[in-house]
Amino acid sequence: MQKKTISFSSRQTAFYFDASFSHLEKLVSKEKAVIVTDENLFNAHKSRLKGWNTIVLKPGEQFKVQQTVDVVIDQLIALGADRQSVLIGFGGGVITDITGYVAGIYMRGIEFGFVPTSVLAMVDAAIGGKNGIDVGVYKNMVGLIRQPAFLLYDYALLKTLPLNEWQNGFAEIIKHAAIKDAVMFKELESNSIAKYRSNKLLLAKLIQRNAMIKIKVVVNDEFEKGERKLLNFGHTLGHAIENMYELSHGQAISIGMTYAALMSEQLKFFTGAKQLIALLNKYGLPTVVEFDAKKAFKVLLKDKKKENVSINYILLQKIGKGVIQPLLLVQIQDIFRKF
Ligand code: GLY
Repeated sequence: MQKKTISFSSRQTAFYFDASFSHLEKLVSKEKAVIVTDENLFNAHKSRLKGWNTIVLKPGEQFKVQQTVDVVIDQLIALGADRQSVLIGFGGGVITDITGYVAGIYMRGIEFGFVPTSVLAMVDAAIGGKNGIDVGVYKNMVGLIRQPAFLLYDYALLKTLPLNEWQNGFAEIIKHAAIKDAVMFKELESNSIAKYRSNKLLLAKLIQRNAMIKIKVVVNDEFEKGERKLLNFGHTLGHAIENMYELSHGQAISIGMTYAALMSEQLKFFTGAKQLIALLNKYGLPTVVEFDAKKAFKVLLKDKKKENVSINYILLQKIGKGVIQPLLLVQIQDIFRKF
């Protein structure tokens, strides 16, 4: 196990890499803890979760809504949870988002920690403190930025993860490589999901490297005034089409990254779109979709990243270097029309 303590603006967060779930008892007593998870994970990890207070939710992004928040709050009240209670999100991004959000508002805020159970949550969704819910087709429309007390990484939890979930996680890993880490991009080109799945050391290194990329960006710019915007690479269009077409998050941002790379080429400062598309395909991710550009543009107008007449679009200067490019909405509309 490797512990890294990270200082965010309002607190320190302990990251336990290469740990075992059993270490959780050393971090929180069973009396104080309430684990929030979903039915699939609860059934897959019944023996691990035995003896812990649990709130078990229905699985899926469609339940990342206010109604589920109300269900969790009702159950916390029924369990007698108070200000000393600690909420633990045991799951993927949907679970960690809901858990972090409820922890932020229950009794005006209680402690919380995460045990991410998917690659996506380990490298991205559980890190950074943004927690919230969707409203209709608008993803993460309501929420807050509040850091957890700890994150516990147990790679054994990935054993039951289906292939499409690995692909989902690798979409964010490829994103990190594209915007920040050309060396990792090369490593990914010469490996595959099958190789990472079968080589625990290689996987542990990759997950920690990606977690550290995200942590570093968040530490530098927790409230997304500058550098943190880079993490939105692929997400502007990605979020617009994700709920519209019921795509997985990885699929949606893979398509978003593809179009952002093509836009970077159209604006004549990037030449690596083909290389990025090849890598996304290698990891089983889609790079084209027949999407309704008009409809996507309408959803995009509600994007949180919009600033009056422009959006800070994340483009690529080269593989390993993302850039924040303010684009006029009319410019984006024009580019979209050409696809
Ligand atoms: N929960 C994801 C983030 O804070 O970026």
